[in-house]
Amino acid sequence: MKTKGIILAGGAGSRMFPVSTIYSKQLIMVYDKPMIYYPLSTLMLGGIKDILIITNSITIPFLKKLLKDGTHLGIKISYEIQDKPEGIAQSLIIGSEFIDNEQIVLILGDNIFYGSYDFLRNAIKNNKGATIFGYYVSNPERYGVIQFENNKTISIIEKPKVSKSHYAVPGLYIYDETCSRVASELKPSDRGEFEITDVNNVYLKQNRLNVIKLGRGFAWLDTGTPSSLMDASNFIETMEKRQSLKIGCIEEIAYNMKYIDKNSLKSLIKSYPTCSYKNYIEKLLM
Ligand code: DAU
Repeated sequence: MKTKGIILAGGAGSRMFPVSTIYSKQLIMVYDKPMIYYPLSTLMLGGIKDILIITNSITIPFLKKLLKDGTHLGIKISYEIQDKPEGIAQSLIIGSEFIDNEQIVLILGDNIFYGSYDFLRNAIKNNKGATIFGYYVSNPERYGVIQFENNKTISIIEKPKVSKSHYAVPGLYIYDETCSRVASELKPSDRGEFEITDVNNVYLKQNRLNVIKLGRGFAWLDTGTPSSLMDASNFIETMEKRQSLKIGCIEEIAYNMKYIDKNSLKSLIKSYPTCSYKNYIEKLLM
C-alpha cells in the first residue's frame, strides 16, 4: 500500500509570541535550518515521497518559496490552508482529498526525531488501523499521555492534570484510510479543538490502535516553547559539531534515499550562496 505524509505546520503559536504574529513557528531556525526541515526529513527517511503541508495563509507563500513542489528533492509537496487552528485532527479533514483512501503518516511541524528510523519504516509496513508511539518523558502533563493497565493501553488522555504514566504521545501518527471519517465524526473538546487524542481513542475503542514504545536511545524533542526550542537547537548543534554530520539536511536525505542522483544534487546547489550548508553538501559529492 502507498503511504502519504501530512505535516501540520500552522497553529496559533501563542507560546511563540511575538514572532508568531509574522509567520508560523515552523519557519524559525532550529540551530542551522528551518524547523520544518526536521519533520520533513522524518517523513522522507520513512520512505514517504508524497507530502501535504497544511499551514495558515500567511505562512504558505514562505513555505512554497522554501520547499516549492518538492521536485528538486525527488518528492511531491502540495499545500493546503488551515484558516483557524481548530485542532490537529482537523488536518485529517482538510487533507481528506489528498489522503484519498490511502494510509498516511501525520507529523506535527514542531516535532523533531533523532535516531534510527527502522521503527518508523517497520510501523508503516505493519500498520493496521492506527499506530502511535510512546516516549518516556519527565513532564507528561504537557502532552497526550498513554495510560496502561498490565502493559495494555487503556486510554489516551490529553494533558492530564495528574498523569498516571510517563509515556507521552509524540506528534507522529500512522493512520489507515478511515482516518478522515473518524476525524469528521468528532465533536470539539472543552478547549474548542478537534483533538488528535480523540481520534486515537476511537481507534483504541475499535481495537485498532497499536502503541509502540520508543526506546531511551532515541530522541524526541518538541519545540513548542522558547525553552524547548533552545534545548532542541543546542541538541542539534552538539550532535552536528561532534560528528560533522548534519541532522535534517533534506538535500542529503534525498540523495541518500536515492530520490535524486548526483547530477541533480550538483545542479540543485549551484544556486545556493557560498555558506557552510552548501559546503557540507559539496563534500557529499566528492
Ligand atoms: O507534541 C506532541 C503533542 O502535540 C501531543 O502529545 C498532544 O497529544 C497533541 O495534542 C499536541 O499537543 P500540543 O499542545 O503540543 O499541540 P499544539 O497546539 O502546540 O500544536 C502542535 C503543532 O501543531 C504546532 O506546531 C501547531 C500545529 N497546529 C496545532 C493546532 C491545534 C496546527 O497547525 N493547527 C492546529 O489547529
